[in-house]
Amino acid sequence: MLSEENNSFSGFGSFSGFVRARHSPRAYLPDVVPAEVIREVLLDAQSAPSNSNTQPWNVHLVGGTALRELSAELIADFDDHGITPDFTTDYGSGPHPQRSVELAKKMYGLMGIAREDKEARTEFVRENLRFFGAPQAALLYVPAMGDRVRAAFDLGTYVENFLLSLRAHGYAGSPIGMVSLMEPTTRRVLGIDADQKMVLALAFGRPDDTSPVANVQPGRVPLAESVTVHGIEGLEL
Ligand SMILES: Cc1cc2nc3c(=O)[nH]c(=O)nc-3n(C[C@H](O)[C@H](O)[C@H](O)COP(=O)(O)O)c2cc1C
Repeated sequence: MLSEENNSFSGFGSFSGFVRARHSPRAYLPDVVPAEVIREVLLDAQSAPSNSNTQPWNVHLVGGTALRELSAELIADFDDHGITPDFTTDYGSGPHPQRSVELAKKMYGLMGIAREDKEARTEFVRENLRFFGAPQAALLYVPAMGDRVRAAFDLGTYVENFLLSLRAHGYAGSPIGMVSLMEPTTRRVLGIDADQKMVLALAFGRPDDTSPVANVQPGRVPLAESVTVHGIEGLEL
């Protein structure tokens, strides 16, 4: 069992404190994450479980001029023809789209952007495509494996390890699904096979804590909204 003395999460108090304090900053400083740290993060990330150990994570790391060029192409394509996603972007009906709207309200509120200010909102979409100013990014693709659902799930386990490892090394990362809605741009710019589909981009670096969106607090639903208990006594949700 972890204790404050022997765990490796010193500064965070406990494993729970460490995991629950992770968040997605939306503003970064230009400082790069050193190559040796990135290597450790990659090793941590790929220790994730995957379906039958298939390890279907295809990761493209991009930084420096390559990231700036990619970002410029993403913004040019977005301004030219909007999003062109490989996968559907529909959140269905019910609580899920509602939660997404609540998050958007919170973020735009923090930035002082009014609901009717379409240009400012679009500019924030472009900020996603600038990787929130982060100096480095990981683009995560799934190969052609069935309907790709299992592979996409496996990428999720990889991503959480990636994000927590960055945090353990004093850095942070942010998932940016918006980048994946701009295919085939990244495949064209980086020369990636058409059968690779991007599920997610991760911006990473050192957060700019002076930004109003450095630490958005979106909250979580009560456990009883997502968990149903069958045959376990004494578990209060
Ligand atoms: C698959 C995925 C895609 C996401 N895409 C975006 C995105 O395009 N832009 C953005 O600002 N945040 C994006 N996020 C971040 C979520 O909004 C964020 O994880 C959620 O609000 C919970 O906040 P937290 O990560 O700070 O705890 C994405 C997260 C995931 C897991």
